[in-house]
Amino acid sequence: MSFPNHRPRRLRTTPAMRRLTAETRLAPADLILPAFIREGLIEPSPISSMPGVVQHTTESLKRAAAEAVELGVGGIMLFGVPAVRDAQGTASLDPEGVLNKAIRDVKAEVGDDLVIMGDVCLDEFTDHGHCGVLDSDGYVDNDATLEIYGRMAVAQADAGAHVLGPSGMMDGQIAVIRQALEESGHKNTAVLAYAAKYASAFYGPFREAVDSQLKGDRRTYQMDASNRREAILEVELDLEEGADMVMVKPAMSYLDILADVAAMSPVPVSAYQISGEYAMIEAAAANGWIDRRGAITESVLGIKRAGADTVLTYWASELAGWLKES
Ligand code: PBG
Repeated sequence: MSFPNHRPRRLRTTPAMRRLTAETRLAPADLILPAFIREGLIEPSPISSMPGVVQHTTESLKRAAAEAVELGVGGIMLFGVPAVRDAQGTASLDPEGVLNKAIRDVKAEVGDDLVIMGDVCLDEFTDHGHCGVLDSDGYVDNDATLEIYGRMAVAQADAGAHVLGPSGMMDGQIAVIRQALEESGHKNTAVLAYAAKYASAFYGPFREAVDSQLKGDRRTYQMDASNRREAILEVELDLEEGADMVMVKPAMSYLDILADVAAMSPVPVSAYQISGEYAMIEAAAANGWIDRRGAITESVLGIKRAGADTVLTYWASELAGWLKES
């Protein structure tokens, strides 16, 4: 094929022309806001490695959720930081525990106007910081953990979550959670599977955000950064087990994975622009090295262009505000 008369610059001549011919568009509804709530806080507490992000109190979380609704944001993903931790992560099952209570409070505030999601994982609740319980060798015990995930899922569904986000990368977690939901009468509670979640250095700031107790790493359960085709296996398994949506995480260093998953997935695909991705752009912008708004917008657009239907980003509300203006 040859296009002798084609001059691609014609479609770039004016802002209106570029807008008309844009292949990818961002909308507030594509965005999901991850939010942290910490038990016992009196004032919101800043997270130093994530400037602009806080650990919320109940009141500030409710305000953030209401603001997200105003701005047209699609959903909110809640993470709880409990006051007391133990080896089994017991506080995750308590109906009055920090995360279950936060789900109930946010639901009371915004009802069905925002999709309310809960993180189904033990790392915030265990005193060793792992995403599951440990066996006598200190290895994360897959099947003992699944049993707790099932009960955690029911507690979050009871609290009113619309969607559950299992992020612990245990084998079989979607099947166990789906079965627990069916048996407890939560047929309409959906599961967003963290299907292809990689062990990543870019989770660093999140560890501060949840006061993580982890020593060591999660390499025996999260995926290895070297692997590409394995992501397809993980997604296929989660689909077979009943995942309603699937996620790739992190986002920016894994856009090839995202494109692969988007090409094969029959269900909506999310990508999580994680804490370290946020921190890098904020740090460079704070130094005056990049244009903050331009870099944020381009980073999320790139994730969407690679194939994400929805993007979890700590800039969800701010970006939604910009999108509404323009
Ligand atoms: C585990 C979980 C993590 C993140 C979300 N869920 C941490 C981890 O896997 O180490 C990281 C999110 C981020 O870095 O923004 N519950």
